[in-house]
Amino acid sequence: MRLKDCHNFHDFRTLARKRLPGPIFNYIDGAADDEVTYRRNSDSFERCDLVPNVLTGVKDIDMSVTVMGQKLDMPFYCSPTALQRLFHHDGEMAVGAAAEKFGTMFGVSSLGTVSLKDVRKKFSNPQCYQFYFHKDRGLNRAMMESAKEAGVEVMMLTVDSITGGNRERDLRTGFSIPFRLTLGGMIQFALKPMWGINYVTHEKFAMPQLDEHIDMGGGALSIGRYFTEMLDPSMTWDDVAEMVKLWDGQYCLKGIMSVADAKRAVDIGCTGIILSNHGGRQLDGSRAPFDQLAETVDAVGDKIDVIMDSGVQRGTHVLKALSLGAKAVGIGRGYLYPLAAAGQPGVERALTLLRTEVERDMRLMGAKSVADLSRSNLRFR
Ligand code: FNR
Ligand code: LAC
Repeated sequence: MRLKDCHNFHDFRTLARKRLPGPIFNYIDGAADDEVTYRRNSDSFERCDLVPNVLTGVKDIDMSVTVMGQKLDMPFYCSPTALQRLFHHDGEMAVGAAAEKFGTMFGVSSLGTVSLKDVRKKFSNPQCYQFYFHKDRGLNRAMMESAKEAGVEVMMLTVDSITGGNRERDLRTGFSIPFRLTLGGMIQFALKPMWGINYVTHEKFAMPQLDEHIDMGGGALSIGRYFTEMLDPSMTWDDVAEMVKLWDGQYCLKGIMSVADAKRAVDIGCTGIILSNHGGRQLDGSRAPFDQLAETVDAVGDKIDVIMDSGVQRGTHVLKALSLGAKAVGIGRGYLYPLAAAGQPGVERALTLLRTEVERDMRLMGAKSVADLSRSNLRFR
């Protein structure tokens, strides 16, 4: 199978699985506990049907949106994710370059593998910084200051990862940073020598956002341990309110799910919320963001930009979310498998396919612009 044979999410996943050592593939592909929420995320879109209008003159399609003050040429963006240079040696640089070509937003994670400043200098498209709140307040302030200095447009605080999700696939393989693999995990690396060659012949793995402040040298810092030991579970709305003030710009919370919390986000001056369950990687059994979208938009949609991610694999998923009132939609694995499969060309192909689907589906729906999509185009079963 080659990149040109990839026509959808599942094809990219298959190719990524071929290229990546098992422990890394399973880190991307896996989710928490029984992975019930992970499966339900995509299924949630099938609970409703699209009802098209025809003969509306759909020669020209404008799918641009404005979200948190950023004009995006397409209504979906690459949600920030950790460790991208482990998936492909070009990592964030490949994703950033692809996102720039398509005029959309992407983000760098606190666990990103390139420096936020380098990425900001290199690309002109809107960028967000995905922030984790550490116990060390000095570290938090320093990270925010460097993001401000770098000129990042949107601060994105992830609030659903106050402790690590139970990723049982990672427990089995021993996936950690740096690697401390189980014997089974080692064998799986040995089976993908090309990955290993690329890994050792490219820029040394690093997490610049953290390396400046934390000694990661000694032990193997697993993702679970990072969450459990370094992030601050005592974080409250007051802490966030203070950060929102300090940032004094576009600030969104990623991982809001309840209407009550959406209202609090408005109260403390956030400009966006992202309904998300972290792609099913944190609280298994939690509701799918798409299922929670309508009531959230009804409650706060006129006061704050409501965005969603988790489970988006198709253009029709994007259309359904926009029809319910989402301002934009984030994708995670939807660009990570393509990155792993083929680097920047992979991500570009994935974005092309999704954009083509959105454009085609808008035509078929009789919608010339995103504003033409509304709940009158949706029926729940
Ligand atoms: C993530 N996600 C994530 N989110 C975040 O706030 N900070 C992070 O560092 C990461 N890292 C990360 C790594 C990997 C491998 C995955 C798959 C996901 C979550 C991500 O931003 C997004 O919320 C989900 O991926 C959306 O779900 P889908 O599109 O993957 O179903
Ligand atoms: C994850 C973290 C890093 O989902 O957000 O793996």
